Amino acid sequence: MSDDLQKATTQGKIKIFEEKVGALMQMGGEKQIKKQHDGGKLTARERLDHLFDQGTFQEVQLFVQHHSTLFGMDKKNIPADGVITGFGKVNGRTVFAASQDFTSAGGTLGEMHAKKIWKVMDMAIAAQKPFIAINDSGGARIQEGVPSLEGYGGIFYRNTIASGYIPQITAIMGPTAGGAVYSPALTDWIFMVKNTSYMYITGPEVIKAVIGEEVTQEQLGGAVAHASKSGVCHVVTENDKDCIDQIKILLSYLPDSCNLPLPAALSTDKPDRECPELDKAIPDKATRAYNMKNVIKAVADHNEMFELHEQWAQNIIVALIRVMGKPVGVIANNPMFYAGVLNVNASDKAARFIRFCDAFNIPLLTFADVPGYMPGTDQEWAGIIRHGAKLLHAYSEATVPKITVVTRKDYGGSYIGMCCKQLGADYVMAWPTAEIAVMGAEGACNIIYRSEIADAADPAAKRTELIAGYEAKFNNPYFAASLGAIEEIILPRETRKRIIAVLDAMKDKKEARLEKKHNNIPL
Ligand code: HXC
Repeated sequence: MSDDLQKATTQGKIKIFEEKVGALMQMGGEKQIKKQHDGGKLTARERLDHLFDQGTFQEVQLFVQHHSTLFGMDKKNIPADGVITGFGKVNGRTVFAASQDFTSAGGTLGEMHAKKIWKVMDMAIAAQKPFIAINDSGGARIQEGVPSLEGYGGIFYRNTIASGYIPQITAIMGPTAGGAVYSPALTDWIFMVKNTSYMYITGPEVIKAVIGEEVTQEQLGGAVAHASKSGVCHVVTENDKDCIDQIKILLSYLPDSCNLPLPAALSTDKPDRECPELDKAIPDKATRAYNMKNVIKAVADHNEMFELHEQWAQNIIVALIRVMGKPVGVIANNPMFYAGVLNVNASDKAARFIRFCDAFNIPLLTFADVPGYMPGTDQEWAGIIRHGAKLLHAYSEATVPKITVVTRKDYGGSYIGMCCKQLGADYVMAWPTAEIAVMGAEGACNIIYRSEIADAADPAAKRTELIAGYEAKFNNPYFAASLGAIEEIILPRETRKRIIAVLDAMKDKKEARLEKKHNNIPL
């Protein structure tokens, strides 16, 4: 071919080039592509076609090849070295991406494969644009050895450097095994596809050999397992196309970088829209649950919210909404699960979301209905002190506008944990149904009136009477309002209007922090 190239005319050289490109576009060949499709997966190129606006994808380093010679690799051709990299427009905005091609040597990562990914990550960082990784790979290319480990190291380093600077999203669309899982884990958001993607440090065979446990791939590291048990996966999707569509929705809420403005969508929702349904949101009985997601949706433009981590730590909700076209990050206790209590996982989930929003200048809106921290040895030994501290740390360090709305219970340490004023909330509002106190009336009376209750002729009646007295004092928002701990008591139906007013008033908020290298968040 090189002889032909030397002798070729200009037109001949163009033809040779086109033939080479055509061959590379075949990826691992028909048989491998069929296997990919039969497995319910798109190819790496089809995924990029679906991601980018038509005709905008510009491939980078198509001609890169491995130069490994061991274990017969000198005879092995791996088109594009198993990864398609480049940039293009997603709904008109520039995004960089790397899509591993499982049809070419299992999408395995060798030195040159990694360097292609480094290149587009470096471009994304320099250009201040989001980076999307589509993972479908057998992991480190075993024949190459250490260079492939170095390759992963370079990706992890870039993931870390880019963290909080540009949004990074990973789509898991096939295997991701061993240390390879750590690039996704270092990015902001992980999307997985049901039944065709999995992630684990060690697979079922190793697990069986080492500890004798039997588990299937899907049970161990499938999308549902990571979305509901480990919290590794943030969004579960039905298939490759659905996964990419959902990533595009997430991108629509995010700025290109921490230095660039938030995207503004056209909103035809009215700023003075009342939400009469919220007047009926809180059940008369304090122990009854209600769906906090309906509260969030009522407040959001066009009742739309994009929930993340939907299946994990369901006692807290984290979601992105738009208010008058601008993105807002919502953190809300969910009374439908464990009464909305704060525990280890809920603290982790909320803290990471708060830090993400703050890094990208997305204002924070908190809805509090929280009875406290989950009691018990399980939680204490799992480190609720350490994990709960993350939430306090995340709220305190966040400098974006912070609004808190107390809908019902807001007790004790969890009152602080759900962004009270002293953690830097700019504006705290409470519904007339709010109960702001050190703890619930029953628990409080059991402690402070222990002897009165025990000594009473009718302890049960005395207890009821004392609880009623405590409730009269604290089970309302008025005591907190009298202290200025909340700015306003509002009608639930006016919540959206009030939030819009505060967000508008605080939109140019600037808050300084001490100059230092970085915080030491309790990890
Ligand atoms: C080299 C690999 C490979 C690997 C797969 N292939 N994994 N080549 N290194 N790690 C090759 C296969 O030889 C095959 O090549 C092609 O990719 C497709 O693989 P198949 O096995 O035919 O596909 P499938 O049956 O779908 O099985 C996929 C698989 C399996 C489950 C991923 O290939 C597998 O278990 N691979 C090993 C996974 C693993 O243990 N990775 C961890 C490596 S260590 P041909 O030429 O026949 O098409 C690691 C550490 C990273 O990743 C540390 C980072 C810090």
